[in-house]
Amino acid sequence: MRNVQAPGTQKEHTMEIRITKTTQPKSKPDPATLSFGTVFSDHMFLMEYDGAEGWHDARIVPYAPIPLAPAAAVFHYGAEVFEGLKAYRTAEGKIQMFRPMENLKRMSDSAERITLPQFDQEFVLEAMRQLVELDQDWVPNAPGTSLYIRPFLFATDPDLSLHGISHAVFCIITSPVGSYYKEGINPVRIMIETEDVRAVRGGTGYAKCGGNYAAANRAGARAEKLGFSQVLWLDGVERKYIEEVGSMNVMFKIAGTVVTPKLTGSVLPGITRKSCIALLKEWGIPVEERLLSVDELVAAMRAGTLEEAFGCGTAAVVSPIGELHYGDVSVTVNGGAVGPVTQRLYDEITGIQSGKIADTHGWIYHV
Ligand code: PLP
Ligand code: COI
Repeated sequence: MRNVQAPGTQKEHTMEIRITKTTQPKSKPDPATLSFGTVFSDHMFLMEYDGAEGWHDARIVPYAPIPLAPAAAVFHYGAEVFEGLKAYRTAEGKIQMFRPMENLKRMSDSAERITLPQFDQEFVLEAMRQLVELDQDWVPNAPGTSLYIRPFLFATDPDLSLHGISHAVFCIITSPVGSYYKEGINPVRIMIETEDVRAVRGGTGYAKCGGNYAAANRAGARAEKLGFSQVLWLDGVERKYIEEVGSMNVMFKIAGTVVTPKLTGSVLPGITRKSCIALLKEWGIPVEERLLSVDELVAAMRAGTLEEAFGCGTAAVVSPIGELHYGDVSVTVNGGAVGPVTQRLYDEITGIQSGKIADTHGWIYHV
C-alpha cells in the first residue's frame, strides 16, 4: 500500500505493513555457540522514502540483499545512521525489549545531523515489534543471549552531486547474539588511542552514523593487532579528555566515586550509560558526569585509586576493563578481576532486561 504524504510528516502510523513470509526458513544456530552479529533471522523490515511521497511501501519480507544503484549516495558520501537494541526472552518464554523508544529518539537525532528524513518513531517501534513477533523463534533463551535488532536508514539518491537527500531506505534486520567480546563478562584489555581521533565537537560524534565507525577502524585494527579488544578515545581537539570506547561508554570508579565523561557533543549518549547513572544514583553511589583528563586517570592508576573501570553499551552490556594502556603506562585494574560495582550493574541491568528483576523504571517494552 502506498501512503501519500508530505516529506517527513508523522503520518506513517497509518501505513499498513505488508508481510511476505519466507518459504525457506533457515536453521537456527546453537545458542551455546552464538557470537555477535554473524547470523541473521528469516525476515527484515523495509520502507522507502522519496521527497514527493514521504515514507511508503512498508513491508516485512524474507532477509535478502537490497538492490541499490551504484551511484546511491550512501556508497559515496556515507549518508547512513543506525541503532542497536535487543529483544530478550524471559524465563516464562515472553519477549521484551529494553528502552526501545530511547533508541528511536536517538536515531531521529542522528538522522537530523545527517539530514536523512525523519520518521514516525511509534510506527517504527510497531514495525520492530511485528518483525520480532514474526521471528520470535529466533530469540534465543540461553543465559546472556538475545536477539540484536539493527535498524538503519540510508540515502539512496542515485546522484553524485552534493545535494540534499530526497530518497532513502529504512531497514531493520535482527541477529541472535551472545557476548560481544569473546571474553564474555571477563575483563577486556583496552588501549588509550593517542594518534587517531574519532570525533570533534560540532562533528558527528553524538550521532550513531556509520562514518564514525569508519573513522575508528584504523586505530581499532592497530589495537587488535597488539592484542587489545578496543581503543579508548581521547577528545579530538586537545587529545586530553577521555571520551568513550568504540562500542561503549566508559565509567571509572576513582576513590569511591564513579566518574563518566560528560556528553560534550562528541560522545554517543548511550542508553546503557543513562541507565547505569540512574541505578548508581538510586543506590547512593556517588556518580559524576564531567570532563576526565587522561592525566587524572593516569595519576589515579599510579596512585592505586582507580578501583574499577568498565564500559557500558547495548552489545557489550557492562564490560569490565581489566587492563588499560596509555603510551608506556600499563595498569591492571582491580587485579584484573570484575569489581563489585561493575558486577552489581551487570547483574541489575541484565536482570531487568531478562525479566529476572522487576522493572520499576518503565524501561521494559513487551513485544
Ligand atoms: N558508544 C558507542 C560509540 C557505541 O557504538 C555504543 C553502542 O551503541 C555506545 C557508546 C553505547 O550506547 P548504548 O548503551 O545506547 O548501546
Ligand atoms: C551497540 O551496542 O548496539 C552497538 O551499536 C555497538 C556496535 C558498534 C557493535
